[in-house]
Amino acid sequence: MKINVAKWAKALCYPRCSEEELKARLRELEKLGVEELLEEGRSSIDGLKVLGKGCVGVVVVAVARGAKLALKARRTDADRESLLREAEMLKVANSLGIGPRLIGATRNFLATELIEGEVIEEWFQCNPDASELIRVMRELLWQCFKLDQAGLDHGELSRAGRHILVSKSGAPVIVDFESASLHRKPRNVTSLCQYFLIRGRAAERVVEALGLSDEDKRRVLRLLRDYKRGASEASLKALLRGLKLT
Ligand SMILES: Nc1ncnc2c1ncn2[C@@H]1O[C@H](COP(=O)(O)OP(=O)(O)O)[C@@H](O)[C@H]1O
Ligand SMILES: [Mg+2]
Repeated sequence: MKINVAKWAKALCYPRCSEEELKARLRELEKLGVEELLEEGRSSIDGLKVLGKGCVGVVVVAVARGAKLALKARRTDADRESLLREAEMLKVANSLGIGPRLIGATRNFLATELIEGEVIEEWFQCNPDASELIRVMRELLWQCFKLDQAGLDHGELSRAGRHILVSKSGAPVIVDFESASLHRKPRNVTSLCQYFLIRGRAAERVVEALGLSDEDKRRVLRLLRDYKRGASEASLKALLRGLKLT
């Protein structure tokens, strides 16, 4: 391992860390085959560049077996005992072709495919043209439909801004299955529509790009209620038509 522990301790073991905890975590990294950590990403902690920081983890770029990956380190103040449950949820998503590919997990670390791109909130700020926006929204709603059908509720898609990444090649990827559950009624499609049309910072831009009038929006809300009741492919398609995505 070529990790400068003094430099990376604050990211691996954020925000507070004992010697003992750090040692245990370094052993876990060894187990995952992590050889190196890289200062890449748009976020930072104390001047150290990282991919992102949430309530549960700090995500950094790591190298294992010669390839880059995204490594999520459980925060020491997270209200979760382990990331192994998130790994299980991500496995279910991966089986549907959704989410970054799971590479490995231990109690304190989740190693996944690195998605190089930006969070959708920032992607919207770059003014994608209407056809790009339509393609990304359509792809995401189909992904959410698959999750709904499989009974996996992501749990945080009404605040999708930081939980969807758009890769450099334009592929939308849903991340952070930390709050996901197989035991709730799935609301992925409805939550994402709420984000696109109402709650998200980009809602105005979306409504304008799709050319939705107030009457169209009211119709979409009715179609969403139908979808909630039935969640069938036919009701999804009606919703996509209502959104002028087809
Ligand atoms: N596989 C990944 N590739 C690239 N960036 C990622 C990846 N996973 C997470 N990130 C970045 O890290 C941030 C925090 O990750 P997230 O899983 O949401 O942590 P938390 O559970 O603490 O909220 C995300 O918003 C995203 O910007
Ligand atoms: Mg998060």
